[in-house]
Amino acid sequence: MEAHLFEWFNLALRWVHVIVGIAWIGASFYFVWLENNLDRQVKNQAIAGELWAIHGGGIYHLQKYNLAPATMPEHLHWFKWEAYSSWITGVLLLSTVYYLNAATYLLLPGSTIAPMLGVAIGLGSLLMGWWVYDLLCKSPLRHQPLLLGVVLMLFLVGLSWGFSQFMTGRAAYLHVGAVIGTMMVGNVFFIIMPAQRNLVGAIEAGTEPDPALPKNGLLRSRHNNYLTLPVIFIMVSGHFPSTYGHEWNWAILLGLSIISVAVRHYFNTRHNSQRFVWALPAAVLALLVMAYVTAPSYPSAKTISASSAAAETSVSALQAQAIVVTHCVACHSAMPSHVAFSAAPGGLMFDSIEAIKAYKDRIYSQTVASHIMPLGNSTGMTQDERDQLGRWIADGANIN
Ligand code: HEC
Repeated sequence: MEAHLFEWFNLALRWVHVIVGIAWIGASFYFVWLENNLDRQVKNQAIAGELWAIHGGGIYHLQKYNLAPATMPEHLHWFKWEAYSSWITGVLLLSTVYYLNAATYLLLPGSTIAPMLGVAIGLGSLLMGWWVYDLLCKSPLRHQPLLLGVVLMLFLVGLSWGFSQFMTGRAAYLHVGAVIGTMMVGNVFFIIMPAQRNLVGAIEAGTEPDPALPKNGLLRSRHNNYLTLPVIFIMVSGHFPSTYGHEWNWAILLGLSIISVAVRHYFNTRHNSQRFVWALPAAVLALLVMAYVTAPSYPSAKTISASSAAAETSVSALQAQAIVVTHCVACHSAMPSHVAFSAAPGGLMFDSIEAIKAYKDRIYSQTVASHIMPLGNSTGMTQDERDQLGRWIADGANIN
């Protein structure tokens, strides 16, 4: 019952997180698009640009002011709770999924780091990430956006490599996403909102607003726009074990991030030039190359460690099933005996040899090509057993 209620708690939290995340990113995409598509040939001196649009059966006319209208409107819409609630639900979700059972979900099997220390490093890195990013944005690098982007990328690569040394692949990915998400919400809280409050306050007081603040706010909001795409991939990466479960997982994440930022850049600039259109075919090509490079290879008798019994003799269906029963079926069963699961995780049940055969490729990728399963290696599966299971699958998963 407890496991069941916990699943519903997780469900509710994740649902809200995705909804507010969509609202945040939707608004962010929309306003960056608006900014890029403004018609700036307006006669009125006070207006920076305007735009006509049709949506939902109505025609809209939007105008952006250089600084502000002569009198402030009664209702001015602010966009901040989308960002704050994304971050708050995100941290709650991170805690629910990875921190409550840190030994299994956060830390690599066999890690010498204590669970509480792992949690502290995880949370600490969110704050440290913001601090480093903000410092970079205020350093002389701020005059060289490309260099700033490269330095930031290197910092994140270092972090993700560091995480992958003691966290499970999934947790390492998620933490990189959480660090970037914290940078984004920090931009809203510490930079964009104060700039907007200064602007509105000055107008209401009849003084000159500081023109540097809105410029900086716009810059940070653009940073957020570029950071969004890697974050979204990371948030759904849990579905793709060939990325987070790969031994080069941090490099794969880097590759996907570079592609996504390039594609975003094309979409952000295409209204006035097609200079970056190469980003689209390049992204497709890069995805194909990465899919090829990360493909798991079935072991030849050579690659199965020579000391292993599986290198010599073939493995019978009975032996393979015995391994799965010992190491997987406590969780992956129609009736899991493991206390943490009221239903088979991922809907995968390995109760019969036919079912094991049907899922052989996924079993292979999780257990032989990578060591993602058994979860946290809680059942203490040995390399020899992985080799045997791998040999049986590589030989055609014969069940007769
Ligand atoms: C302690 C419980 C537990 C044990 C033991 C366990 N698993 Fe899992 N398994 C999970 C959880 C949790 C998931 C994640 C389901 C999800 O995606 O939410 C999972 C997911 C999987 C997936 C799907 C991954 C994907 O995203 O496609 C496969 C395949 C898998 N396990 C195979 C195995 C095999 C093979 C074994 C035994 C060698 C095993 N598991 C042992 C808990 C366990």
